[in-house]
Amino acid sequence: MPLLEVNDLSAGYGRVEIISDVSFSSDEKEILVVVGPNGSGKSTLLKALFGLCSVFNGEVLFRGENLTRSPPYKRSAKGMAYLPQVNNVFEGLTVQENLALAVHDMAQEELKDKLEDVLSFLPELRGLMQKKVRTLSGGERQMVALAMNLLRNPSLVMLDEPTTALAPRLASQVLKKAVALRDERGISVLLVEQNARAALEIGDKALLMVSGRIRFLGDAQDLLKDKELAKVYLGL
Ligand SMILES: Nc1ncnc2c1ncn2[C@@H]1O[C@H](COP(=O)(O)OP(=O)(O)O)[C@@H](O)[C@H]1O
Ligand SMILES: [Mg+2]
Repeated sequence: MPLLEVNDLSAGYGRVEIISDVSFSSDEKEILVVVGPNGSGKSTLLKALFGLCSVFNGEVLFRGENLTRSPPYKRSAKGMAYLPQVNNVFEGLTVQENLALAVHDMAQEELKDKLEDVLSFLPELRGLMQKKVRTLSGGERQMVALAMNLLRNPSLVMLDEPTTALAPRLASQVLKKAVALRDERGISVLLVEQNARAALEIGDKALLMVSGRIRFLGDAQDLLKDKELAKVYLGL
């Protein structure tokens, strides 16, 4: 059984359909890269998967369970995590306070172990715990947002353009974290990326969205090798 299975999904805002007939699946320990031009519906797809926009048709199954109509907190409890493109941390709070908010319902003892576990995966946060998030760099903020999600033990992490606005070296560090999520933690990653080449290079599978529909679904390396698609839609 795939970890995530999406069948004939159509979704949008209000009554306006933005993505149509989207079907794909993702397995455990897999990086699925979602690419496509601006406005093609990549962010809307992630929102639909997490229960944040209107679904008109189709279904979202997670470990075989139909979550199409479930609210985001239920999807989170089932193991889905979603990092939005912007505003994914509380700027006026410290790193520690942000992390505490993410797990306000967790017992103290469990929290301590969990926090140690997450910091061993994101050691760059250790020295930043008492800093206000607004004083951090873009890359550090992404790490805080990721840590908040990892505290909840997800089996699928959905990242919406985590490298946008980062310098190339930092962008590559963030992509390395995606690989580590898969290889060290056994977590699947659904990665929406503007930086198509770098993302496809680390991806297992790829999904190309064009005008709200799937234009390519397959091996990430095959999309990189497809000269026409890569040139027309990805500017490669
Ligand atoms: N909250 C919203 N309400 C109405 N339309 C939206 C909203 N968010 C995005 N859209 C529209 O949906 C389309 C796809 O947007 P989006 O999913 O953000 O694309 P991408 O992430 O691929 O750049 C765009 O035409 C955009 O204007
Ligand atoms: Mg987007």
